[in-house]
Amino acid sequence: TATDFLVTTPLPDPGMRLLEAAGTVTVAENGLTHTELADACASGDHRVVVAQLRDEFDATLLDGAKITGISNFAVGYNNIDIAAATANAIVVGNTPGVLTDATADIAVLLMLAVARRCVEADTFVRAGKFHGWEPELLLGHDVSGKTLGLAGFGRIARATARRALAFGMTVAFCPRPPGDRPVSEEELGEFAGKVRHMSWPELVDTSDYLSVHVPLNDQTHHLVDAGVLNAMKPSAILINTARGPIVDEQALVAALRDGTIAGAGLDVYEDEPRLAPGLAELPNTVLLPHVGSATVPVRSEMARRCAENAIAMARGELPPYPVNPEALAR
Ligand code: GLV
Ligand code: GLV
Repeated sequence: TATDFLVTTPLPDPGMRLLEAAGTVTVAENGLTHTELADACASGDHRVVVAQLRDEFDATLLDGAKITGISNFAVGYNNIDIAAATANAIVVGNTPGVLTDATADIAVLLMLAVARRCVEADTFVRAGKFHGWEPELLLGHDVSGKTLGLAGFGRIARATARRALAFGMTVAFCPRPPGDRPVSEEELGEFAGKVRHMSWPELVDTSDYLSVHVPLNDQTHHLVDAGVLNAMKPSAILINTARGPIVDEQALVAALRDGTIAGAGLDVYEDEPRLAPGLAELPNTVLLPHVGSATVPVRSEMARRCAENAIAMARGELPPYPVNPEALAR
């Protein structure tokens, strides 16, 4: 008989405990290749898959799957073809909300780290090169008084805006780049009168720091391409804590190398865990290994929500954090 949960990667506490208390669990200790995942989904041996971002659920896999739900251990779900999941009556759940502040912290950390050359400076000290205060040692860029442009204006963008305003930055945003949409005073809420709504081209032109906070989809794939990089100020710094493929990483390497823009802070990459050739050699970048949500309390709360989603799915109920609730009606 089918186990309730197939866990592709063990969850932090209390995730596994909650799943084990609620049903039968199969854990893929060493992860699953795409073929193994497809076979496991097609076998009828598991009701719900507890998945993470490295598990790719494409339409072919989903069309052959005999599962009722996918509980993704992430807020993003670009690893899952949602339309195909819905068509196959497979409910998808995610973990929104809990990682908002932690991810905004990383966006600001990257902005400051690139601006003030934090990693270069740390390397300098550890290499024994610090021989005393110097007037022109490791000079960087200001953030106060500068303009932060936010691509997107969802939860993480807003949390980043809050932080940037506290630093005395001017904050501008484009809610749905590369297009636009109106934003009411009500939707602006606490930000009414404090942030400026701009078109995508204006935001690109104006920003001293451009930070990406949009989901990855067909509209946002390579949102930041060679053309956008060329339109940015030569002094501008790009920050990406969202998804790698939103930025054309090869074009970014070229832009950083030839001074088209001044620097970049990245937590995500186009083809994780691989980096575009040349990226790691550039001194004007700070590179993190996709750790936006990586704090002990956040990962623990994500695990709880992920388990709660999975448990509801195994019972045929709507999960607390559904991505495609319409799948349940099918
Ligand atoms: C991490 O990238 C997430 O989507 O939670
Ligand atoms: C994700 O949580 C977002 O809305 O930015």
